[in-house]
Amino acid sequence: MIVNTELENKGNLFPSKIINFKKDVDKLYFTAENDVILELTVVRDSLLRFRYTTVGNFDNDFSYAITKYASSGYNKLVIEDKKELFEITTSKLRCEILKSNMSVSIYDAKDGTLINQDEGGFHWEESYQHGGNIVKMSKTSNDGESYYGLGDKPNHLNLKGKRYSNWATDSYAYGKDTDPIYKAIPFYTGLHHGKAYGIFFDNTFRSTFDFAHERRNVTSFWAQGGEMNYYFFYGPKMNDVVESYTDLTGKPHQLPPLWALGFHQCKWSYYPENKVKEITSTFRELKIPCDAIYLDIDYMDGFRCFTWNKEYFPDPKRMVKELLDDGFKTVAIIDPGIKIDKDYSVFKEGLENDYFCKRADGDYMKGKVWPGECYFPDYTNPEVREWWSGLFQELIEDIGVKGVWNDMNEPAVMEVPNKTFPDDVRHDYDGNPCSHRKAHNIYGMQMARATYQGLKKYSYPKRPFVITRSAYSGTQRYTSTWTGDNVASWEHLWIANMQAQRMAMSGFSFAGSDIGGFAEQPQGELFTRWIQLGIFHPFFRVHSSGDHGDQEPWAFDEEVTDIVRKFIEIRYQLLPYLYTSFWNYVDHGTPILKSLVLYDQDDSQTHYRTDEFVFGEQILACPILEPNAKGRRMYLPQGLWYNFWTDDIIKGGKEMWVEADIDSMPIFVKEGAIIPKYPIQQYVGEKEITEITLDVYYKEGKEESELYSDANDGYDYTKGRYSLRNFTLRGKSNELIINQYKEGKFVTPYETFNVQFHGLPFDVVEVQLDNEKINIESLKVNGVTSIVVDKNFSELHILGITSKT
Ligand code: GLC
Repeated sequence: MIVNTELENKGNLFPSKIINFKKDVDKLYFTAENDVILELTVVRDSLLRFRYTTVGNFDNDFSYAITKYASSGYNKLVIEDKKELFEITTSKLRCEILKSNMSVSIYDAKDGTLINQDEGGFHWEESYQHGGNIVKMSKTSNDGESYYGLGDKPNHLNLKGKRYSNWATDSYAYGKDTDPIYKAIPFYTGLHHGKAYGIFFDNTFRSTFDFAHERRNVTSFWAQGGEMNYYFFYGPKMNDVVESYTDLTGKPHQLPPLWALGFHQCKWSYYPENKVKEITSTFRELKIPCDAIYLDIDYMDGFRCFTWNKEYFPDPKRMVKELLDDGFKTVAIIDPGIKIDKDYSVFKEGLENDYFCKRADGDYMKGKVWPGECYFPDYTNPEVREWWSGLFQELIEDIGVKGVWNDMNEPAVMEVPNKTFPDDVRHDYDGNPCSHRKAHNIYGMQMARATYQGLKKYSYPKRPFVITRSAYSGTQRYTSTWTGDNVASWEHLWIANMQAQRMAMSGFSFAGSDIGGFAEQPQGELFTRWIQLGIFHPFFRVHSSGDHGDQEPWAFDEEVTDIVRKFIEIRYQLLPYLYTSFWNYVDHGTPILKSLVLYDQDDSQTHYRTDEFVFGEQILACPILEPNAKGRRMYLPQGLWYNFWTDDIIKGGKEMWVEADIDSMPIFVKEGAIIPKYPIQQYVGEKEITEITLDVYYKEGKEESELYSDANDGYDYTKGRYSLRNFTLRGKSNELIINQYKEGKFVTPYETFNVQFHGLPFDVVEVQLDNEKINIESLKVNGVTSIVVDKNFSELHILGITSKT
């Protein structure tokens, strides 16, 4: 069992034999002789919730993580009271609970595979220091079992053999082994015997996960207080586990405005106004697409949130408008620390209304951050969140700022050993008063939530855009995120790749890193390689601490500028493809980045791969992570893939060398894919898009692709004004048929598709559009065969004779 070294507690205690069973609709209660109760909720056929108490009754059932929109309901529920166990069967799972000790085993209902089994199961230690229990769970770790998830851990994708804690921590210049860092996402996926399941331990106290680290065959998790309260998701596909977790903890409340998926430029700090303008106009002069410019803490008056330094920014409203006229959306930072200053209105309001956090004995929680000594709003109080959201009115509605960046919200406190609030600080916790031990991990989430509510209100009828550093499970409903203060090193490029993938498989796809590194300065080569990776991260921003030199695309040399431009242009071309993936994420919870294991778990070669990932559904990318590289070895998943640059068709299921000099990187497209592309724009909305290119990658066989479009902002899409186009491609040796099925009421500004064919194995002799022969003369053949067709075609039929070798 888990050894607790904190204090001399009584040691591990265990449930005794079950003496009572009760059923209340979808909730089953098993009571042991020693007052332990297990509450088992059948949430869905593939989702069970386990909750334990040691005192004979449960706490108020309250969670910040679980969304009210989560799906529930099952098709089957059979409960059998057998001699030695209770057996609970749904259409997906069979769960056995031993009468002798409450031990749980979960099987696949169809083929009987044992998916997950208690080892010690639930146990606990009474805590002398804090009261309550240290709650623990230990599970058997199977042969060949792998583990994934857990948010922002900056290490190998597969968590097996490691131990991690969840306690949101400001971690300037963290490294590969630093733990914990900014986020607390206590959710992991396990995979063995080809089947994946997930466990979400919804407990906000400091928690620890041990993945067969202390003992080879045991995986355990525990928390320094609260309840043993975990959800068990069954796949067996890993993608289904992640979607199910995302459904439970929430998909983003709306799509981001499309501009938020463009390129963002940031630095600590661009000021005064003419520096900001110099940066934005250089983007336009050099024709490097960019959609957002950031203002870090120096835009404020003495780091007071919601104020402006009038010397640097004499007329923010005018500046923000001028930037917008040039296509730049302004994003401003807002931190939680409110400067103690009796002449500062936000401070005064907070004080008058009793909105700041207090210590256990009644003093204010005072701590040092950028402005000096500060008090901190208690965002766990709904009234405080309401007040906070109202503070954004001027910034958003009047001045016209389009996005807000929440930082230091772990919460970070300077010059104290634990970098945060002391444990005794009190929080409202939405009417469930508690200490900071319980509220710490959700403080940042509740700040971002309150910010989101403000932006949502004052950006209306446009969509809000928020970015946060700290997060707990469920934060993805409100905001995007970045991975904090990384370093300009090759190792950190590897870490950035890992973190973006890990966040996606932890339900939080809208994530990215500080491209180029926050601390220290990258060489041009590292910056270039980082941009190449960054074009595949949903959140795509360059940021740096600024005191180590410049990090704009032109800060290195002309070659770097040209390559960086070329890659940012690819990102802008791929926007309709990325937007479609984002829609899939918002609609179904499908992760936008798919690590190879998530993409193809049946291929055991993928279980320990880390670098390659699938972006959206059909593009495979693999960053170059070393200096002086002319290429790299990588694993191509099974199936046939087109080299993005050369159209060479390669059979996957093997590791191979891929050429990629500094102006290139390994990118592949799945055969049969139809990839929608925009023309290059300098910012979203610069051009009216009248035509979309469809890159069609021939396949012998069938493949489905999608294109989602809407107004790129606003909420009309929620009322059916979107356009969803499903393409089915069917290829044979001498023909190719593309069928289109449409849905939604949105009239797209594009009227035509420019269909470009890749890899046709035959010479085209006839083309039929909706059963009518069209003039084959209109087929352009200059390297690529292409044809322009009306956007509403139903069937495009290409016939050929096989003359190509
Ligand atoms: C923190 C943030 C960083 C920001 C800086 C100044 O270190 O992580 O992104 O630039 O504070 O606000």
